[in-house]
Amino acid sequence: MTATGTTRLDGRVALVTGGGSGIGRAVVDRYVAEGARVGVLERDPRRAEALTRDHGDRVTVEVGDVRAPEAHAASVARTLDVHGRLDAYVANAGVYDYSARFEELGEDRIMAGFAELFETNVLGYMLGANAALPALRDSGGSLIFTVSSSGLYAGGGGALYVASKHAVVGLVRQLAHELAPDVRVNGVAPGATLTALGGLAALGTAERRLDADVGGLGRHIPLGFVSEPADHAGLYVLLADPRDSGFMTGAILPSDGGLEVRGAPRRSKGNR
Ligand SMILES: NC(=O)c1ccc[n+]([C@@H]2O[C@H](COP(=O)([O-])OP(=O)(O)OC[C@H]3O[C@@H](n4cnc5c(N)ncnc54)[C@H](O)[C@@H]3O)[C@@H](O)[C@H]2O)c1
Repeated sequence: MTATGTTRLDGRVALVTGGGSGIGRAVVDRYVAEGARVGVLERDPRRAEALTRDHGDRVTVEVGDVRAPEAHAASVARTLDVHGRLDAYVANAGVYDYSARFEELGEDRIMAGFAELFETNVLGYMLGANAALPALRDSGGSLIFTVSSSGLYAGGGGALYVASKHAVVGLVRQLAHELAPDVRVNGVAPGATLTALGGLAALGTAERRLDADVGGLGRHIPLGFVSEPADHAGLYVLLADPRDSGFMTGAILPSDGGLEVRGAPRRSKGNR
């Protein structure tokens, strides 16, 4: 019996990008607890070491950057070498723009911020999917993308981040269309979550941490609280388990405390 009391992913193998922190780390921990073995691609060596320390040989970690195709090739190869198969690929590593206002960016920072953010949040997902696909075809597995409520709504980030997450929604839909019926492709769209999500070197916000900023957002969320990474992890189990999500592809599962039903905030508009 595993730590969760269930073994929904017994015998399965997953690969998680950005699995060293936040939502990715919660997914790794939960996958292991459900009986899976997990490969991780993570750029922070200290977070990589912590994974190895905490999970031993159930988790293999490749230190690398999701913007580099060779990092994906190496992490997929290592996962297959050590664990023998790949059933679920979770594209998750991402960065944030700290709601940088479009009009204040200017041309140079739009270009530099776009390159850094889109190469991580969008190109990184495409390169990962490309590297993982042959193994997922072999196993009849699935792709799972971390989207965001910013893939569905405006206002949870700046133009760079919101556009990148809308692009991920398009990627989920297009890949689900192209890869059916062989490989399922779905997304999870978390709302505000207490993590170390970092900003952009191009905008001088690389060292910021989201959990220092979002603590007070609970009052804007129907369920009244800001989530922890573990609040989303079960959805990644669901999407990795074909017994429970075998008829799902192209779906984006919101996990945002009810943003869809929050209603409009009350505002006065002139004399109306
Ligand atoms: N925190 C939130 O409120 C929130 C909400 C919705 C969606 N998300 C999304 O969740 C995903 C995970 O973010 P998080 O909030 O858990 O943040 P996090 O910073 O805690 O975790 C992200 C991990 O990805 C790694 N990473 C970042 N850039 C990388 C790169 N280029 N190559 C390899 N690894 C890299 C980081 O080192 C970190 O360990 C992101 O896609 C983010 O956009 C976060």
